[in-house]
Amino acid sequence: MAPRKLAAGNWKMNGTLAALAEIDRLRSDHPAPGCDVLICPPATLIHAVAATGIATGGQDCHARPSGAHTGDIAAAQLSDAGASHVILGHSERRTDHAETNAQVVAKAVAAHAAGLVAVICLGETEAQRDAGDTLAVISEQLAGSVPQDATAANTVIAYEPVWAIGTGRTPTNDQIAEVHALLRDRLSARFADGADMSLLYGGSVKPGNAAEIFAIPHVNGALVGGASLKAADFGPIIAALSAA
Ligand code: 13P
Repeated sequence: MAPRKLAAGNWKMNGTLAALAEIDRLRSDHPAPGCDVLICPPATLIHAVAATGIATGGQDCHARPSGAHTGDIAAAQLSDAGASHVILGHSERRTDHAETNAQVVAKAVAAHAAGLVAVICLGETEAQRDAGDTLAVISEQLAGSVPQDATAANTVIAYEPVWAIGTGRTPTNDQIAEVHALLRDRLSARFADGADMSLLYGGSVKPGNAAEIFAIPHVNGALVGGASLKAADFGPIIAALSAA
């Protein structure tokens, strides 16, 4: 099995019911995409987005199955609302909520137990890259954030350099290739089907740079923020991945 191609949209804290029109447009413009397409809306929209028939994901889950955790959502609740995936360990969670690798790995175990695909994010800060620490940081996050029960069917890894998120800046193709080759090596060494896990790049992916990024070895798709909010932007990214 080759890694599945996945175009994943992370809507972050954007969107109300009015945004469903973008999904309708996406689905009518791209009725049979040549890749998997996933939308991760705010939790308030998961049920409605899932009802359109598009694959839907949460943006976080709690590690516990239930209990006194005001404001949190359990993995099984995401599944119950119609989600098939959940983003975990996004840099905005690691920064805004001080999430650690240990918390991310616990959430991934919970996601798997609920039957969700965990989209586990990692990436270096600009200071870490400038210090020459990128590969060490990625290795540490990968080792610490991906649980032992990960398989190609239940886990996707997203490399998102923190400095490329929402900035319009992207790494060079060589920089992306270097990190993705490391991810593939480490995953293949650790997991029986690590060669088949989907590896996404994320950070300022746009219609204009998508095809170039998808041509990089071991890039099996993208985790897209801003450009996933409008069908006019996300559609061409889906088309580029379908053609890759
Ligand atoms: P942008 O595509 O807006 O840079 O966001 C990337 C991201 O964080 C996706 O999770």
